Amino acid sequence: MKADWLFKNVTVIDGSGGPAYRADVAVTGDRITEIAPAITRPAAQAIDGEGQVLAPGFIDVHTHDDTNVIRIPEYLPKISQGITTVIVGNCGISAAGATIRHQVPDPMNLLGEKQHFVYPTVADYARAVEAARPVVNVGTLVGHTSLRNNQMDDLFRAATAQEIRAMGDELRVALRQGALGMSTGLAYASAFQATTEEVMALAEALAAEGGIYTTHLRSEFEPILDALDEAFRIGRHGKVPVVVSHHKCAGAKNWGRTTETLALFDKMRQHQEIGCDCYPYSASSSTLDLKQVTDEFDIVVTWSQPCPEEAGQTLQQIAEKWGVTLNDAARRLMPAGAIYYNMDEQDVQRVLRYPVTMVGSDGLPNDPMPHPRLWGAFPRVLGHYSRDKQLFPLTTAVHKMTGLSAARFRLPERGLVKTGYYADLVLFNPDTVRDVASFTDPQRPAEGINAVMVNGVMSYRDNHQITGRAGRFLRRQPQQS
Ligand code: ZN
Ligand code: CU
Repeated sequence: MKADWLFKNVTVIDGSGGPAYRADVAVTGDRITEIAPAITRPAAQAIDGEGQVLAPGFIDVHTHDDTNVIRIPEYLPKISQGITTVIVGNCGISAAGATIRHQVPDPMNLLGEKQHFVYPTVADYARAVEAARPVVNVGTLVGHTSLRNNQMDDLFRAATAQEIRAMGDELRVALRQGALGMSTGLAYASAFQATTEEVMALAEALAAEGGIYTTHLRSEFEPILDALDEAFRIGRHGKVPVVVSHHKCAGAKNWGRTTETLALFDKMRQHQEIGCDCYPYSASSSTLDLKQVTDEFDIVVTWSQPCPEEAGQTLQQIAEKWGVTLNDAARRLMPAGAIYYNMDEQDVQRVLRYPVTMVGSDGLPNDPMPHPRLWGAFPRVLGHYSRDKQLFPLTTAVHKMTGLSAARFRLPERGLVKTGYYADLVLFNPDTVRDVASFTDPQRPAEGINAVMVNGVMSYRDNHQITGRAGRFLRRQPQQS
């Protein structure tokens, strides 16, 4: 049978973490149909991949692209990195299954404005993704903060038993409609008052439907070990896998402590399924938050609703100009966004190297001056950390973006270059791949990504052109026993 596409003479890095090998790879329809040393049967189109790596399309397990992939289906920031699947709904905030009655609470405002929240159920969201046909596949988590906001008149308190029951009912429906699991953002004021028991009750619904639990911990600062303990306890209670989001030790007093946190991971992984994701930078980004205001490191304001003209300056510069304290300046700027230079490079590298760490961008697509991770996270791991710093072999880097991620998030027949699997593929040059996006010029596509295929459709070429749109909504699959 004639193949639709043939990748000739490529170096296959198959996503399993195993060694690279040379082969030809054929694609027919939406599947990989043959992998062999030399394929001679005809193909409608062929690419000579001499000197290039063919890997599974990257899976960005931590995104806030919920509304953007629908509003901008030619979603260049992700496809240009070789990403073929994004998981949305992280950090407790999802557009899927959210109803906004009044104002969009912080940090749900990272996802867009009120008019962008038009998916009261996961089924509505899935339909919208399918109608928009974005360039990448989309899977969603349901946000705990979104559930709270649906059910509660006031987010700054614990939920009542009745509200927890109502959230659980909504969560169960969402999972049956295809959500992959639930995320929390317990550090944010809008979820901080939620008790561990509130989340445990919801974890029971997750367990019943086979969903996973991802969490932006209650603290990434000094109380981080307690916060990890809470996350793992919730996972054990529900017997559900736990993914710790953007794992870091934030704040100068906390630097170096990933030795302690990862030791705790080591210990608890013997008892339960645990993973984490991480973006390859030592600065974080989110909304401007008084709890994180400090003079210990630079904080750059990226947007401000009341004072848009201050964007791009440090909080220190703004405070000095105004002759006020850092806290008063922050209060005047809010609602606002910020980049916090709050991590230690050694911690970043230790977490990235850790065997169960996946790569997730945590990019913020609605920020006018976004953290460069939105456009650069994946090529930065391949180029800067794997090739240039030799933090780990390229096969490990690819595994952390593909096979490991698909297994953890239960995405069947994706994440590997394997016969019969979906043809989500990226062809890149291992010698030149690199992130170009920087903190001062953050909206720039990566170099060295030559071709990206999604569900068998060639979707991106190295001239930065989007050539097809074949992304699907990825539903949670019923558990196999
Ligand atoms: Zn987060
Ligand atoms: Cu996040």
